[in-house]
Amino acid sequence: MQATAIAQPNIALIKYWGKRDLGRNLPAVGSISITLSALHTTIAVDLDAGLRNDVLLISGVADVERLTRISACLDSVIGEQRPAARITSECNFPIAAGLASSASAFAAATVAAAAAAGLSLPTIELARLAGLASGSAARSLYGGFTELSNAGDVIDLTVLRDEQSWPLQVVVAITETAAKATGSTAAMEISRQTSPFYESWIETQEEDLAKARAAIRERDFAALAGVAEHNCLKMHSLMWASRPPMMYWNSATLHCLQTVRKLQDEGRQVFFTIDAGPQVKAVCVADDAAAVRDALAATPGVRKIMSTDLGPAARLVDGSDR
Ligand code: PMV
Repeated sequence: MQATAIAQPNIALIKYWGKRDLGRNLPAVGSISITLSALHTTIAVDLDAGLRNDVLLISGVADVERLTRISACLDSVIGEQRPAARITSECNFPIAAGLASSASAFAAATVAAAAAAGLSLPTIELARLAGLASGSAARSLYGGFTELSNAGDVIDLTVLRDEQSWPLQVVVAITETAAKATGSTAAMEISRQTSPFYESWIETQEEDLAKARAAIRERDFAALAGVAEHNCLKMHSLMWASRPPMMYWNSATLHCLQTVRKLQDEGRQVFFTIDAGPQVKAVCVADDAAAVRDALAATPGVRKIMSTDLGPAARLVDGSDR
């Protein structure tokens, strides 16, 4: 009745922004992501703790604010009649700061909860359950390059390429570690209801997805770079033009974009992407990773650098489901 799972965050190269169905948490657009390896969340779910109510400990500290969402996730995996759980979470990077900590947390929680309850579910079912809690979490049930579809009545995913067959690297420039002010569900709804660019965002996504799929199939770095940067800037334009505007960037974010442009001018194979936070993720080929890391580390306002390979799917920690 207890199990521990580990999951890595994923970052979208073609972004998910907007919901088609709030209740079922279905995305309005498809998205394509890469799962990372060096950043991770480990979650243990103990259904034997003899508790009357769920308890969530993050890095050893009780967290009441995040408990509701994680309890709802356990309810959807195990059922509402389940025993109360002690949930412990450890994460090796800042949470709720635009580094996809909810993706790794809900992916790990889903895998651990199912195992703790003795359920043996196929990966796609685990991904659907994780995706109910956080849309992007569904993608962390898979490694490498993953597409999350916006079609159909349930969440659906496809692996486009595994993590070994195109070993790109990601250098994450952390420019702020505080948690963001607006969560993504609320922010997506504000964009849908108020941004004059929302419809064209939805209409042009299929074209970006097709370009990215082809680039990943052919391992065409320049093509992937072009479409990923454009898609990222379209999502942020949509956010900036919402009312109230959502501006997740800080001055260091912009400095990092200039650093990436300079590296590109020098012939380095690198591109940027930014999610709902001020951190810049620079995706590059392995040969250029050291130069990208050094240049971003020397960029004004960068507090910390994390470098990572692409990573595997969420999984149980060996021997934990006994
Ligand atoms: O899964 P959520 O609700 O945390 O939303 C993720 C939104 C972005 O990170 C900005 C884009 C994406 O596709 O991951």
